[in-house]
Amino acid sequence: NYLMQVAIDGPASAGKSTVAKIIAHNLGYIYIDTGAMYRACTLIAHDNNVDYGDEKAILNLIDHSTIDFKQEDGEQKVYVNGKDVSIDIRTPEITENVSQVSALRSIREKMVELQREMAGKHDVIMDGRDIGTTVLPDAEVKIFLIASVASRAKRRFLDFQEKGIHQDLKDIEHDIEVRDYKDSHREISPLKKADDAIELDTTNLTIDEVVAKITEIIQKKQ
Ligand code: C5P
Repeated sequence: NYLMQVAIDGPASAGKSTVAKIIAHNLGYIYIDTGAMYRACTLIAHDNNVDYGDEKAILNLIDHSTIDFKQEDGEQKVYVNGKDVSIDIRTPEITENVSQVSALRSIREKMVELQREMAGKHDVIMDGRDIGTTVLPDAEVKIFLIASVASRAKRRFLDFQEKGIHQDLKDIEHDIEVRDYKDSHREISPLKKADDAIELDTTNLTIDEVVAKITEIIQKKQ
């Protein structure tokens, strides 16, 4: 029996992690949030007062750090050096600067290596920007999730509201556009639909509908 690999890529806030978590739970796959890994790298730079463009210094810090995922109360938590940073990696400071850190070649090489290692042991559903193009080019299923900027911003707005965070809808829209631009225009493994990926526009779909569509695609390949 071979391992199943499902790659879900797409722009910021398209709902990748929400649907990937549900599908992983339903099918007994491991879910790997690669964005959380780049966010953890950015947090490590931040906490050590290292410039977000200082590739050598950041790589050195990462080489001396541990980044782990742990399942707790049905939720995936991210740990850096044994500390739960699941909340810290989602602050505006980290979100605004993660695209700069994730564009650094040696950081990407390191993360891709870790991601492939994790994917090699278990059926996996992995979400990010370059999973179908670079990390798992032979994945059985590749999905490219898109949605209008307005609908993505609105989802993020409601998500924030639920967590008691207030951010202007217009500011969220702007942040999403800036981050997508940076992620799509960087030199190394930019955000891009793999040639063999199936594009799914979730603008007018509910979470359940997206889950159902992707699950159907996966089950056809099993
Ligand atoms: O998925 P999330 O929005 O948490 O990702 C945060 C950032 O990490 C992205 O904006 C991008 O800069 C970077 N990233 C990446 N490659 C991936 C996943 C995320 O460059 N596979």
